[in-house]
Amino acid sequence: TAGGTDAAKRRAGERAAEEVEDGDVVGLGTGSTTAYAIEAIGEAVADGLEVRGIPTSFQSRQLALEVGIPLTDLDAVETVDLAIDGADQVVDDPDSPAHGALVKGGGAAHAREKLVDAAAERFVVVADPTKLADALERSVPIEVLPDARTVVADRLRDLGGDPTLRDAERKDGPVVTDNGNLVLDCEFGRIDDPDALAARLSRLPGVVEHGLFVDLADATYVGLEDGLEVRDY
Ligand code: A5P
Repeated sequence: TAGGTDAAKRRAGERAAEEVEDGDVVGLGTGSTTAYAIEAIGEAVADGLEVRGIPTSFQSRQLALEVGIPLTDLDAVETVDLAIDGADQVVDDPDSPAHGALVKGGGAAHAREKLVDAAAERFVVVADPTKLADALERSVPIEVLPDARTVVADRLRDLGGDPTLRDAERKDGPVVTDNGNLVLDCEFGRIDDPDALAARLSRLPGVVEHGLFVDLADATYVGLEDGLEVRDY
């Protein structure tokens, strides 16, 4: 939630919600930007739009229930038409092979987010300009089985990373994900080849999911104070 104005986030979220069509199954991402999309979809549902939402976290499920979006899950549908989700960082360089790659998981929801976003026919990222970067350089959230945190941390150091167990803010002890796991935030510095790093991270036993989203997004809607820019990939 750091940085980015509410006005910019709202523009991105509301514009993405306009893409939802009658009868769609929609993946509902997590975070403050997607929350504007979920609220807008809720208003459209109140006006008669028929959609079913698949939440990606406790937070997005709760909000979807509050605004009246009927919910379903991946087992119950044949297709997910559209997923709308935020990001912590987005590569914004058309000349880079990593154009459109993301770091997600600032809210520790990236495992279910990736599952749903990857299942969708179309995945739209909603962001504000503070998220755009020439290359990914934010720490990568890595959800791990609780028993795996020490071995995975060792392997991450072997890969040149600097992992830190994410601590809860208002509880003594670590963040526990919606899936009952822990999160290692791993600094890698500037990530020039996110695809290669993603493959290495996915291979580590005990890693449930990491926050590198490569070749998944179809577009990013960048909300501005007074407008909107669209990146298509
Ligand atoms: C949740 O784990 C994250 O992947 C969020 O989707 C991401 O942090 C974006 O959140 P904001 O829209 O609040 O920045």
